[in-house]
Amino acid sequence: MIIKSLDHLKLISVKIADRISEKDCIFLIGEIGVGKTTFTRSFINYLQEKKGIEQTEVLSPTFNLLYEYDLKNLKLSHYDLYRVKSTKELVQLGIFKEPSKTIYIIEWPELIEIEIANRLELHLSYTTKENERKLKLKGFGKWKDFDEDKL
Ligand SMILES: Nc1ncnc2c1ncn2[C@@H]1O[C@H](COP(=O)(O)OP(=O)(O)O)[C@@H](O)[C@H]1O
Ligand SMILES: [Mg+2]
Repeated sequence: MIIKSLDHLKLISVKIADRISEKDCIFLIGEIGVGKTTFTRSFINYLQEKKGIEQTEVLSPTFNLLYEYDLKNLKLSHYDLYRVKSTKELVQLGIFKEPSKTIYIIEWPELIEIEIANRLELHLSYTTKENERKLKLKGFGKWKDFDEDKL
Protein backbone atom coordinates (compact mmCIF):
# COMPACT_ATOMS: atom_id res chain seq x y z
CA MET A 1 0.00 0.00 0.00
CA ILE A 2 0.98 3.63 -0.30
CA ILE A 3 1.54 5.85 2.73
CA LYS A 4 0.50 9.21 1.36
CA SER A 5 1.94 11.55 3.95
CA LEU A 6 3.33 11.92 7.47
CA ASP A 7 -0.24 12.21 8.79
CA HIS A 8 -1.12 8.98 7.06
CA LEU A 9 1.91 7.32 8.66
CA LYS A 10 0.71 8.56 12.04
CA LEU A 11 -2.72 7.03 11.44
CA ILE A 12 -1.14 3.71 10.54
CA SER A 13 1.01 3.74 13.67
CA VAL A 14 -2.10 4.35 15.81
CA LYS A 15 -3.97 1.43 14.27
CA ILE A 16 -1.06 -0.87 15.00
CA ALA A 17 -0.48 0.56 18.49
CA ASP A 18 -4.13 -0.11 19.39
CA ARG A 19 -3.54 -3.85 18.88
CA ILE A 20 -0.20 -4.14 20.61
CA SER A 21 0.37 -6.27 23.69
CA GLU A 22 3.31 -7.56 25.71
CA LYS A 23 5.95 -9.61 23.90
CA ASP A 24 4.84 -8.26 20.52
CA CYS A 25 7.63 -7.35 18.23
CA ILE A 26 7.64 -4.90 15.33
CA PHE A 27 10.43 -5.17 12.81
CA LEU A 28 11.05 -2.02 10.77
CA ILE A 29 12.78 -2.79 7.51
CA GLY A 30 13.93 -0.30 4.90
CA GLU A 31 16.67 2.09 3.87
CA ILE A 32 18.02 5.03 5.85
CA GLY A 33 15.56 7.91 5.97
CA VAL A 34 12.57 5.88 4.89
CA GLY A 35 10.67 6.55 8.14
CA LYS A 36 11.43 3.81 10.68
CA THR A 37 12.17 6.18 13.56
CA THR A 38 9.36 8.51 12.53
CA PHE A 39 6.93 5.59 12.72
CA THR A 40 8.29 4.64 16.15
CA ARG A 41 7.95 8.24 17.42
CA SER A 42 4.27 8.41 16.46
CA PHE A 43 3.70 4.96 17.89
CA ILE A 44 5.28 5.73 21.27
CA ASN A 45 3.80 9.22 21.60
CA TYR A 46 0.36 7.82 20.84
CA LEU A 47 0.67 5.11 23.51
CA GLN A 48 1.95 7.67 26.03
CA GLU A 49 -1.08 9.85 25.33
CA LYS A 50 -3.46 6.90 25.49
CA LYS A 51 -2.07 5.84 28.86
CA GLY A 52 -2.12 9.36 30.24
CA ILE A 53 1.65 9.61 30.47
CA GLU A 54 3.54 12.71 29.45
CA GLN A 55 4.79 12.52 25.88
CA THR A 56 8.55 12.36 25.62
CA GLU A 57 11.12 12.92 22.96
CA VAL A 58 11.68 9.82 20.87
CA LEU A 59 15.16 9.91 19.44
CA SER A 60 16.89 7.47 17.16
CA PRO A 61 18.93 4.92 19.14
CA THR A 62 21.53 4.83 16.36
CA PHE A 63 24.43 5.20 18.78
CA ASN A 64 22.93 3.90 22.03
CA LEU A 65 21.36 0.94 20.19
CA LEU A 66 18.48 0.98 22.68
CA TYR A 67 16.10 3.46 24.23
CA GLU A 68 13.52 2.26 26.70
CA TYR A 69 10.12 3.74 27.47
CA ASP A 70 7.94 3.14 30.47
CA LEU A 71 4.32 2.73 29.43
CA LYS A 72 2.80 2.18 32.88
CA ASN A 73 2.24 -1.59 32.99
CA LEU A 74 4.37 -2.18 29.91
CA LYS A 75 7.91 -1.47 28.83
CA LEU A 76 8.80 -0.58 25.29
CA SER A 77 12.29 -1.27 23.97
CA HIS A 78 13.26 0.60 20.80
CA TYR A 79 16.36 -0.86 19.19
CA ASP A 80 18.33 0.32 16.19
CA LEU A 81 20.69 -2.47 15.19
CA TYR A 82 22.31 -0.67 12.24
CA ARG A 83 25.69 -0.58 13.96
CA VAL A 84 25.57 -4.16 15.19
CA LYS A 85 27.67 -6.18 12.82
CA SER A 86 27.55 -9.78 14.07
CA THR A 87 25.23 -12.25 15.74
CA LYS A 88 27.76 -12.48 18.57
CA GLU A 89 27.45 -8.74 19.23
CA LEU A 90 23.70 -9.10 19.16
CA VAL A 91 23.79 -11.82 21.80
CA GLN A 92 26.07 -9.68 23.98
CA LEU A 93 23.51 -6.91 23.76
CA GLY A 94 21.08 -9.15 25.67
CA ILE A 95 18.22 -8.46 23.31
CA PHE A 96 15.00 -10.30 24.22
CA LYS A 97 16.25 -10.83 27.76
CA GLU A 98 13.97 -8.08 29.03
CA PRO A 99 11.12 -8.85 31.45
CA SER A 100 8.10 -10.40 29.79
CA LYS A 101 5.97 -7.26 29.81
CA THR A 102 7.96 -5.69 27.02
CA ILE A 103 7.07 -4.54 23.54
CA TYR A 104 9.88 -4.46 21.00
CA ILE A 105 10.32 -2.12 18.08
CA ILE A 106 13.42 -2.95 16.11
CA GLU A 107 15.02 -1.02 13.27
CA TRP A 108 17.49 -3.01 11.15
CA PRO A 109 16.44 -6.44 12.52
CA GLU A 110 18.15 -8.38 9.71
CA LEU A 111 20.71 -10.03 12.03
CA ILE A 112 18.08 -11.52 14.33
CA GLU A 113 18.00 -15.25 13.82
CA ILE A 114 15.58 -16.45 16.48
CA GLU A 115 11.93 -16.75 15.54
CA ILE A 116 9.79 -14.29 17.42
CA ALA A 117 6.29 -15.67 17.73
CA ASN A 118 4.15 -12.57 17.53
CA ARG A 119 5.88 -10.40 15.01
CA LEU A 120 4.77 -7.75 12.57
CA GLU A 121 7.21 -6.72 9.88
CA LEU A 122 6.83 -3.35 8.20
CA HIS A 123 8.75 -3.16 4.94
CA LEU A 124 9.10 0.47 3.94
CA SER A 125 10.43 1.86 0.69
CA TYR A 126 10.62 5.12 -1.20
CA THR A 127 8.40 6.22 -4.07
CA THR A 128 9.08 9.02 -6.50
CA LYS A 129 7.19 11.47 -4.26
CA GLU A 130 9.03 13.07 -1.35
CA ASN A 131 6.43 12.52 1.37
CA GLU A 132 5.12 9.22 0.11
CA ARG A 133 6.28 5.74 1.11
CA LYS A 134 5.43 2.20 0.09
CA LEU A 135 4.48 -0.21 2.87
CA LYS A 136 4.32 -3.98 2.85
CA LEU A 137 3.16 -5.90 5.91
CA LYS A 138 4.20 -9.38 6.94
CA GLY A 139 2.59 -10.78 10.06
CA PHE A 140 3.45 -13.84 12.14
CA GLY A 141 1.64 -15.46 15.07
CA LYS A 142 -1.16 -13.20 16.30
CA TRP A 143 -0.33 -10.76 13.48
CA LYS A 144 -0.68 -13.39 10.78
CA ASP A 145 -3.97 -12.08 9.45
CA PHE A 146 -3.17 -8.44 9.99
CA ASP A 147 -3.16 -6.88 6.57
CA GLU A 148 -3.65 -3.60 4.78
CA ASP A 149 -7.45 -3.74 5.10
CA LYS A 150 -6.99 -3.15 8.82
CA LEU A 151 -5.10 0.08 8.23
N1 LIG B 1 5.20 9.46 4.59
C1 LIG B 1 6.31 9.51 5.32
N2 LIG B 1 6.61 8.50 6.17
C2 LIG B 1 7.74 8.54 6.90
N3 LIG B 1 8.66 9.52 6.88
C3 LIG B 1 8.41 10.55 6.05
C4 LIG B 1 7.25 10.58 5.25
N4 LIG B 1 7.28 11.71 4.52
C5 LIG B 1 8.40 12.36 4.87
N5 LIG B 1 9.09 11.68 5.79
C6 LIG B 1 10.38 12.12 6.39
O1 LIG B 1 11.38 11.16 6.14
C7 LIG B 1 12.31 11.14 7.23
C8 LIG B 1 12.38 9.76 7.82
O2 LIG B 1 13.46 9.73 8.73
P1 LIG B 1 13.63 8.60 9.82
O3 LIG B 1 12.30 8.26 10.41
O4 LIG B 1 14.71 9.03 10.74
O5 LIG B 1 14.12 7.36 8.93
P2 LIG B 1 14.83 6.00 9.35
O6 LIG B 1 14.63 5.80 10.81
O7 LIG B 1 14.14 4.98 8.50
O8 LIG B 1 16.27 6.15 8.97
C9 LIG B 1 11.82 12.17 8.24
O9 LIG B 1 12.50 13.38 8.05
C10 LIG B 1 10.34 12.30 7.89
O10 LIG B 1 9.81 13.55 8.25
MG1 LIG C 1 16.02 5.32 12.34
